Amino acid sequence: MNDSSYTPPLGTGATADYDRAIRRWTRELRWREAMLTVLAAKPGETILDVGCGTGTFAVMLKMAQPGVTVIGIDPDEEALAIAETKARAAGVDIGWRRGFARDVEAASAHAVTSSLMFHQVPMAEKRAGLQAMRAALRPSGRLLIADYGRQTGLMRLLFRATIQRLDGVADTQPNADGVLPALISEAGFDDVRESVRIHTLTGTIALLTARRS
Ligand SMILES: C[S@@+](CC[C@H](N)C(=O)[O-])C[C@H]1O[C@@H](n2cnc3c(N)ncnc32)[C@H](O)[C@@H]1O
Repeated sequence: MNDSSYTPPLGTGATADYDRAIRRWTRELRWREAMLTVLAAKPGETILDVGCGTGTFAVMLKMAQPGVTVIGIDPDEEALAIAETKARAAGVDIGWRRGFARDVEAASAHAVTSSLMFHQVPMAEKRAGLQAMRAALRPSGRLLIADYGRQTGLMRLLFRATIQRLDGVADTQPNADGVLPALISEAGFDDVRESVRIHTLTGTIALLTARRS
């Protein structure tokens, strides 16, 4: 897990600037609150947030539904340190683990979430990550992904000028071409749906849901 083996939270930018950038450029509250609504977590559920980064969604989730067990997984040590500080300041208890999406262990989670992670990872890791996430779910477990999906018109230009400058083209272009729903189906999930599309200054962020049969 060395620094060049993955793209860190803000790509070529500093991780310390990540939260401010996301707040300023992505209409963050809009899509994070949409995630909470679509996820509809219930007390007693265990939810894994894969590629949790600086922990904003994991903390929001635990604050919105204190009865859930939340585990955040990310390879980036600096991001996890920020996440831990954020959780402590919010007074919530979250399990943080260092690892890649493909390392997510088989388990019986009720739901797996992931935001803004898949556009940053190579095709092989998108596939391996989705397979591991499926194995981490119990039957009928839910998958919820919020990420840059198919980009069209102006959104494609904005995505190119912002996200692709920070994160490169190789890993991000398949997302912009709309590859995620097919990859989710290929990994064995059912009921793959796009429930929300939010246009931002950095491109369109889509919420995708699916279920483990
Ligand atoms: C843009 S950040 C998103 C962070 C967070 N989910 C959010 O919504 O703010 C992408 C995160 O994915 C992590 N990441 C990169 N490659 C990964 C991989 N192969 N598996 C899991 N996480 C990865 C990065 O370290 C980074 O924290």
